Amino acid sequence: MYTSKIAGIGHYVPEKVVTNNDLEKIMDTTNEWIVERTGIEQRRWFNPDEDTVSNMATKAARMAMERSQTKVEEIDFIVFATITPDYFFPGSGVLMQRELGLQGIGALDIRNACSGFIYALSIADQFVKTGMYKNVLVVGAEIQSSALDKSTAGRSSSVIFADGAGAAIITRSENGKGILSTHLHADGDFAEELYVKDPGSSRKVRLSQELIEGPTFNLTMNGNAVFKHAVVRFSEVIQEALQHNGHSPEDIDLFIPHQANLRISNFVQKQMNLPDEKVFNNIMHYGNTTAASIPIAISEAWEKEKLKEGDLLCLAAFGSGFTWASALIRW
Ligand code: COA
Repeated sequence: MYTSKIAGIGHYVPEKVVTNNDLEKIMDTTNEWIVERTGIEQRRWFNPDEDTVSNMATKAARMAMERSQTKVEEIDFIVFATITPDYFFPGSGVLMQRELGLQGIGALDIRNACSGFIYALSIADQFVKTGMYKNVLVVGAEIQSSALDKSTAGRSSSVIFADGAGAAIITRSENGKGILSTHLHADGDFAEELYVKDPGSSRKVRLSQELIEGPTFNLTMNGNAVFKHAVVRFSEVIQEALQHNGHSPEDIDLFIPHQANLRISNFVQKQMNLPDEKVFNNIMHYGNTTAASIPIAISEAWEKEKLKEGDLLCLAAFGSGFTWASALIRW
């Protein structure tokens, strides 16, 4: 059995910065409310003339390849996590594959929302561990801004979600370092607490004027339910990863939570009794980019030299489904 490691990580965010003051101009909200409840100061929204989910992912992937000194032709397989694909089908995995010139290799699409990157990482880890593939390109990329209700009616979620992409090269590791374990969970009882209902296929008519004018194409979130479940599931799944590997919270060198909401991250940090220097958050600058948030954060933490060789890195996520997941990595 081999082990797998993150050999390189990269990210891309659209150029357009949208501040809380910009949102004040289009909906009834305030910078103070957004900062106090979410920690978000600004986010990035895509440029429809330039950015697509797959080309943002391609840019992040090229950075990850460069940093890991992996040649594009060395990639054996793609795992693409997004809930906002460019097309209804096929998934964005094949579009990025085409852009990279990797026609022929397998491309798998994952739709596990905010937990999507850890689910994707786990799949890549299994393929590398068994020896089936040597280099797997894992990405999380989202364009949320085009599905947000930016009127006052949608303000509790439209101030939170945003756009971006992150990518990692998962490579066979010969020295025992790398991904120690991953832990995946879901509970479909809560599917409708955070979801976009349409265009759903289980309708007599998939698209009608009435549907288009209604609220079901927009992201719907029960913020209180999400918050309550998130804080419980985050700490459960982190403890699960630690116990599985015989570690305790004080062994963690860096904790990178999915950037759901700064209040959730702070709550979990407190539960785990982790000092500020062991937790990396960047939601202030990017908002919640769903499947992209963890790889963007790992990439920035690495750039800022907060992640050093030998560090014990803990990742955890919670989101729509509900789904939740963790990974423990010896960097
Ligand atoms: N600006 C100003 N006021 C807003 C607002 C905004 N952007 N969004 C909601 N409000 C208002 C509400 O309308 C409500 O007003 P009312 O009391 O007059 O009815 C008031 O603020 C409180 O709303 P409520 O929804 O109870 O606020 P909250 O304290 O629960 O905060 C969230 C809302 C969404 C920030 C909070 O529930 C949360 O953080 N949930 C988790 C969300 C999350 O992490 N999602 C990502 C999951 S991956």
